[in-house]
Amino acid sequence: MSAPAPQISAADPTTAELIAARPHLKRHAMDGLLLDGVPLNAIADALGTPCWVYSAPTIRRRLAELTQALAGLNTHIHYAVKANDHLAVLTLVRQGGAGADVVSGGELLRARRAGIAADHIVFSGVGKTAEEIRLALGEGIYQLNVESAEELATISAIAASMGRTADIVLRINPDVDAGTHAKITTGKADNKFGIAYGEAAALYAHAATLPGVRPQGLALHIGSQILSMAPYRAAFARAAELIRALRAQGQTVTRMDCGGGLGITYGDEAEASPAAFAGAIRAAFGGMDLTLMTEPGRWLVGPAGMLLASVVLNKAHDRFMVLDAAMNDLIRPAMYDSFHGVVPLAASNAGPDRVMDVVGPVCETGDTFARNRLVAPVEAGGRVALLDAGAYGTVMSSTYNSRPLAPIAMVDGGTWTVIRARQPVEALWSGEIIPDFTA
Ligand code: LLP
Repeated sequence: MSAPAPQISAADPTTAELIAARPHLKRHAMDGLLLDGVPLNAIADALGTPCWVYSAPTIRRRLAELTQALAGLNTHIHYAVKANDHLAVLTLVRQGGAGADVVSGGELLRARRAGIAADHIVFSGVGKTAEEIRLALGEGIYQLNVESAEELATISAIAASMGRTADIVLRINPDVDAGTHAKITTGKADNKFGIAYGEAAALYAHAATLPGVRPQGLALHIGSQILSMAPYRAAFARAAELIRALRAQGQTVTRMDCGGGLGITYGDEAEASPAAFAGAIRAAFGGMDLTLMTEPGRWLVGPAGMLLASVVLNKAHDRFMVLDAAMNDLIRPAMYDSFHGVVPLAASNAGPDRVMDVVGPVCETGDTFARNRLVAPVEAGGRVALLDAGAYGTVMSSTYNSRPLAPIAMVDGGTWTVIRARQPVEALWSGEIIPDFTA
């Protein structure tokens, strides 16, 4: 029996190229793959696999780089908590001077728990509940990003009943194609997000007459993992045009929230450049006397995290590398066909790179981390890192197949510490009740 000859879809970056492109990674001749100088095998020995590892220096460095690029623009960074909501990550973000963009009461309470001041928090989301609106108003957050006429009426009524005046911005839907995966495109007219561009001016004028709300400006967010500046430029130009029209009608407009969406390098694509992003913001809004905001998530934390896994076995003539990590841990490949580099933790490769499918043990074909990918072979018992999983990794994990949530370590200053223990398997059923009628 001979194995079918697999087809490689594109030229995949080699192990050496993946490591060389990531300043936090090195391969040591004795200790194998290092994250900020810390051997990842040592962490996996201690915690077992699957486990997550975050690099604190990488988060700090990237936040500083983005802050630097935006300097002089009267811009506040509101980190999109959804990308990675761990309290340690939120603390690093706060220490780096950023606020938070939250989309639920839970995220709001987490951000507050991490010490992020209420007046550094903005609340986005297409379906904020009355309870969440009350919580946000009670905390006194900086602004609510309103996504519909219906929500505007609700916020006005709740705020008025609480004797408050909420600062709001209207999230417009600029009907721009962000050129990214359909499931993470948010700024097209047929997406559920925001207020139709053509209806925004009238709604703004209406908002200005309502009790309990004070319209301060506009917001937009056109999608995620955006690599080209062209969609940003198009969306910002539409927003700037609307701001000018509103001001001409006598409306007060003081704020513009430019959203997030900056893309990172997963394979060999060039990441979105903070300088180019700043340039697009300056070109559209510079000189307009606005307080500007951004809501980056992925760009700040994506490259800073990885998922470590052990190889359970290689099967079908080494066609499939089966890991002990699965889609319940990292769902991005199953959901978005996303690329995550697969790199051995060992000091050297066990053989020449070969084309394989890297899969998890879950009973779904979608439980595939890499298809027809050129990877370094790793024997059963060896380990790999799935790279660039710091954003939308742990936060999207589930316990599907009764697989407990994996532990998390954070590396800093040449050492590491556990920031979340492995979930005990009993925790999976600890809240479940077997009703009496089954007796
Ligand atoms: N602001 C708003 C209103 C958003 O909806 C999002 C992301 C962000 C900011 C942050 O976007 P970022 O800078 O991280 O691209 N789970 C998907 C990504 C979903 C993004 C949802 N919204 C993934 O794994 O690719």
